[in-house]
Parts: sequence; C-alpha cells; structure tokens
Amino acid sequence: MTTPLWKKVLWEQLQKNIQKQGLSSCFMTLCLATPSARTVVFRSFAGEDHADELGWTSNCLVVTSDKRSNKFKELQNNRDYEVCWFMHGTGEQYRLKGTVFIYPQDEASSLPPVYRRLSSSEQQDIKSLGSKVFLNKQQGQDTFDWEAERRRHFANLDGWLRATFSPKKISTLDITGLDDSGEWFISPNQQDLNDAYENFCLIILTVKQMDYVSLSGERKLYTD
Ligand SMILES: Cc1cc2nc3c(=O)[nH]c(=O)nc-3n(C[C@H](O)[C@H](O)[C@H](O)COP(=O)(O)O)c2cc1C
Repeated sequence: MTTPLWKKVLWEQLQKNIQKQGLSSCFMTLCLATPSARTVVFRSFAGEDHADELGWTSNCLVVTSDKRSNKFKELQNNRDYEVCWFMHGTGEQYRLKGTVFIYPQDEASSLPPVYRRLSSSEQQDIKSLGSKVFLNKQQGQDTFDWEAERRRHFANLDGWLRATFSPKKISTLDITGLDDSGEWFISPNQQDLNDAYENFCLIILTVKQMDYVSLSGERKLYTD
C-alpha cells in the first residue's frame, strides 16, 4: 500500500501538535450532511497505534461513538462528512472530506481496506491492554478484524468515558484484565461492561480530499 501525501502531512503535523499542545490536538469538528457539527476525538488510523506496533496500516480515521446519539440517525440518510480540524500548536487548519462507514452496522466486506504491514512474529513489547486484545483476536486471520479494532478502542478509553456507554448511570467502568480467551475483558462490573459495549461503535472516515490552510497564508489542496 502506498501512503497518500495527505496522510503523511496530517500525521507529521499532528505529532508536532501533540508535542506542543498535548492530546487536545486530536479534537476535530465533524460535520455531517444535515448540516450538523460536533467535536469528536481522532483516535487513530484503523489498525495503527501511536505506542504499539500492531502490524496493520490504513488511510481511514477512527472516531469512537455511541449508537444512541443523533449522529447515527443522521448517518442512515447520508454518509458524506467534512472534518474541520484546527491544530493550535502549528496554527494550521485541515479540512477533510469523504465518506463515513459504521462498525458494527455496515457489512464487513464494504468497510475500507486495512493492510497488513508486519507478520505477527515481528510484533513485540506490546504496552496497552487494548493492543493485546486486538492482537489476540486478530491472530491467525489474513483479513483485518474490525471487531478486534472495536475492542481495542473500547479498552483504550478512560473508565469514566467507558461508563457513559452504559444504559445505567454509573461513574466508572473499569477493565482489570483479559479473560481466559484473551479476547474479552474482566471488570468488577462485568454485566455493566458487557451492556455498555453494545452501545459502543466505530465511525470510520475515508478521505477524498484534504484542504490545508496555515495562519501564515499557505494553502494547498491534497487529493492523494
Ligand atoms: C472535547 C470533546 C470531545 C468529544 N469527543 C467525542 C467523540 O470522540 N465521539 C463522540 O461521539 N462524541 C464526542 N463528544 C461529544 C459530541 O460532541 C456530541 O455532543 C455527542 O457525540 C452527541 O452528539 P449527537 O447526539 O449530536 O450525535 C465530544 C465532546 C467534547 C466537548
């Protein structure tokens, strides 16, 4: 797979912004076709992790969300989006346009491609529980397992944020380890955790173009 220019630029600049301003650099405004805009967090490119080598690469952005939110109703009619992302550290605006995919909902075969980068024996020194659950579930499969990706992002959330997916009002939902299969979690509130996961979804953004503007006046349109 070749990495498009838009991704190289966006990724490089995001690293600089995280260095200068921290993780708030991942807040971007997602506008759906209604029009309707909201702040969301860029979590990763699908199959990629900032700290762990998972052995996969892609050109689609992952945002996590709750299937009970209004955006899911809006997405049933129109899958176009625009992201407007201001990176304060470098004074740059990125506007991405493309199509939204939803997991779970869309057929696995219609989801955007994610490519193998390394064999599983080349992966080592895995740090997060999310990466561990991903690798355990993905193991032995040739194609990208979106369910493994969903579990990875669920594990990577803070306990208080995970709790917001619960049908009950609870303040935290902690994950303390992996069960015997290595593919699911152990929690002091096991049933609440399982129920919360039912509402947890991935919003997957493919990119047709990226419009770049800097405060110093530079402007460029990336289409690859
Ligand atoms: C800093 C910040 C980050 C947010 N990140 C997300 C996110 O990653 N995913 C999400 O669904 N909502 C996120 N939200 C909440 C959304 O902006 C929105 O209010 C919520 O998803 C409900 O939207 P809807 O019902 O209109 O779809 C965030 C809000 C703030 C203030």
